[in-house]
Amino acid sequence: MYFDNAATSFPRPESVIRAVEGWLRAGCAAGRGGHAGAVDAALLVQRCRSSLAALLGVASPRQVVLTSGCTESLNTVLLGLLSAGDRVIASELDHNSVLRPLAWLERTRGIHLDLLGFDAGTGLLDALQLEQLLDAGPVRLVVLTHASNVTGRVQRVSELAALAASRGALVLVDAAQTAGHWPCSLDGLGADFLALPGHKGLCGPLGTGVLVFREGREDLVSPLKFGGTGTESELLAQPERMPEKFESGNLNMPGIAGLGAAADWVLERTPELLRANLVAKTDWLSAELGRISGLRLLTPGVPGEICGIVSFVVPGLDAHEAAMVLEQAFGIRCRAGLHCAPLVHRALGTESAGGAVRLSVGEFTTESELAQAVSAVGELAMVAR
Ligand SMILES: Cc1ncc(COP(=O)(O)O)c(C=O)c1O
Repeated sequence: MYFDNAATSFPRPESVIRAVEGWLRAGCAAGRGGHAGAVDAALLVQRCRSSLAALLGVASPRQVVLTSGCTESLNTVLLGLLSAGDRVIASELDHNSVLRPLAWLERTRGIHLDLLGFDAGTGLLDALQLEQLLDAGPVRLVVLTHASNVTGRVQRVSELAALAASRGALVLVDAAQTAGHWPCSLDGLGADFLALPGHKGLCGPLGTGVLVFREGREDLVSPLKFGGTGTESELLAQPERMPEKFESGNLNMPGIAGLGAAADWVLERTPELLRANLVAKTDWLSAELGRISGLRLLTPGVPGEICGIVSFVVPGLDAHEAAMVLEQAFGIRCRAGLHCAPLVHRALGTESAGGAVRLSVGEFTTESELAQAVSAVGELAMVAR
């Protein structure tokens, strides 16, 4: 039983599997060149970009950059935008794919970083603190996670982003836990830059990701990598045109074939329906686990606002030990530890317990699996007592 969808989704839609296999069997180019295979590949990339643009509410598919994952998308903005003296606001909810590049930029470029806290009860970022930090002086960038990968709580990003924009700060949204199975549009979120993986809520292949630039914002960001784009090859300077500016080197064509199929799969079902399915499962799991005596839930009890994640601590039991028992005795695959988000655990005081156990559901998680997970955690908690 797979309960690690927040890391990467499993299983994947048949159409995604067929698209990857189809490309591996018949594909022979990365869309750069003049022969028929290259033209086919270019069309496939174009279709993928158009489907993603439709899904993310982006008028021009050229603003959709294909990356290797959410980490590359986030790093592209952070490393390409920020320079000495810039003030940046991120938060304790952020993943290491935000915190580590920012720590490196603090050390090597002299940026100034402030971290927003969150309310342990509601899981929400502190809007008042954001306002105070914004009022303390000019801020170049605010990084907002759409949903914590530890608590699962979806944030009120549009309100926070509007606050940032009103003070002239740019906004980078990390939609790693929401994109695909939760409505995410550039305008809806109020983002200048939107980073997301292709392999979680979208159910595409691992090794795929997306970075969306609001029109014109690409001019503010230098590329992370430079190289061949198949265009303007006579120039030694990196093309400024989108999306080539950020897409050097041969593209991940099997991944893009699968990602395009995944975006079409989501568009067909609609993110609203996927969200409703996800919320029904998450809320049920959270409510049932909440009834288990002695278990400490880190996921707030706010029905309709949690995206697929329920995390908990079994008092007296290290998180890794608990996950090992869940797998070995009950066949449940889940994720234990700090989930690459150490500051959430520091704030919640769960570091000494080895972090937490995270169960994360997806579109293919069944009712029977949910019931078995609840019963397994119940037995585990009873033994630990
Ligand atoms: C909140 C958050 N941001 C970023 C990432 C990094 O995503 P990727 O694995 O696609 O690089 C993750 C992955 O777990 C995440 O949960």
